Amino acid sequence: MGERKVREMTGAELQSMLKSNINFKSLGGVRCEELNLPAEDKRWWQDLRIGMFVHWGLYSILGRGEWVRFNEKIPKEEYEALADEFIPQDFSMDEWAEIAKDFGAGYAVMVTKHHDGFSLWDSPGSYEGFNSMVHGAHRDFVGEFSEACRKAGLRTGLYYSPMDWRFPGYFDPEGLPENAALMKKQCYAQVEELISRYHPDILWYDGGWLAHKGSDTSSAWFWEPVKLNKMARSYNPKLLINPRSGWEGDFYCDEGSHEIKGKIIPVPWEKNMCVCSGNSWGWMPDDPVSDFDWLIRMMVNVVCRGGNWLVNIGPDRNGKISPKIRQRMHEVGEWLRTYGESIYATQAGPFEPVDDVYGSTFRGKDVYLHVLDPAAFAGLCLPVPENNEICSARLLNGPQLPVSTGAKGISIRLPERTPGPDTVVKLELLRPAEPKASENIRFTGKE
Ligand code: GLC
Repeated sequence: MGERKVREMTGAELQSMLKSNINFKSLGGVRCEELNLPAEDKRWWQDLRIGMFVHWGLYSILGRGEWVRFNEKIPKEEYEALADEFIPQDFSMDEWAEIAKDFGAGYAVMVTKHHDGFSLWDSPGSYEGFNSMVHGAHRDFVGEFSEACRKAGLRTGLYYSPMDWRFPGYFDPEGLPENAALMKKQCYAQVEELISRYHPDILWYDGGWLAHKGSDTSSAWFWEPVKLNKMARSYNPKLLINPRSGWEGDFYCDEGSHEIKGKIIPVPWEKNMCVCSGNSWGWMPDDPVSDFDWLIRMMVNVVCRGGNWLVNIGPDRNGKISPKIRQRMHEVGEWLRTYGESIYATQAGPFEPVDDVYGSTFRGKDVYLHVLDPAAFAGLCLPVPENNEICSARLLNGPQLPVSTGAKGISIRLPERTPGPDTVVKLELLRPAEPKASENIRFTGKE
């Protein structure tokens, strides 16, 4: 691949380009050209489009969110005693893999260690042996997860939090450098264990900051993320790494349940959010499950802007997913089994989305219009694609639709009654559609 000139975009430019509330985290990470993966090595991940995220750990015993230890100032000994109770009954990782498949995911990302420090694998590097092999279940859950995903044909991602509340040095890295150094040592050892033993496809960091101040990127002086990620890549040169270690990473991250609006973002990016309210990522009884229509529209809004969609579930202490969550994951999966050709292995475009009305995806000559508001769509014309023509239009899995081209553009007549939250119209073009001219953009985060 030839050298491409990188165009840098400041925060202000990004905002004006997006005109949206997309909020990419951890912008402005340390750069290292040597770590940048070429676009073609990220394509497999973009083609999969849909992932399932799982937050499960000692906090799942308490059911008050994964930040419970910190928020409630639970004393160290009291919280750590939970490790001996972390013994899921009648649980197999195949259940999660099955749910991910049923949801239509192509990859699954598991929290291997959250900020509380408890590690879900046989981790010699774990400070004070605070892990699921030494305590409680005496099981290697990361190993079981990796195995179950591979059997099910899912690509795997491992979430890892470098920071760890157990270390006073985390809260005062300059005052307690020796203790902070132990935390850093644990991080390097554990990342090495995770990559060298379980061979994940994705390394998903969260919490590369210090003392709950600043961002992942402002603590790079401490973590030395380039060194850390070079080590990880030495085991897998194609490992996909998110941007939250302080190094700029292979893709951008938008986190949370806010809506996605604005234009196509022609860089690899991922929205991660919860299938429930988003008040907690770990299990919370009675956390309401999001509405089906809302989820489908969210997915469509993400994919029509070029993003991946990573949806989190929080199993209970036994690793079980509640029936209402399973049901919703199944319903989304059913939708994807019917309309998935308009989502998987597509690119965003060729039409720019119109917020709340429609967006589009395409693969070669096939274009999929995702119409979210048929009434508003009826009053609109699509721009005529350059050097191209629309040969036919039909509802995906449905009848042919009338298309006409006038002075204002193309209009497509939808039937009186349209199915569900997203009406998918398949257009056949004369020639393959062109992806949005993808300049080599890099968002800097600078204002
Ligand atoms: C938020 C939560 C954190 C969770 C993460 C997932 O930052 O605070 O607990 O792990 O989202 O992206």
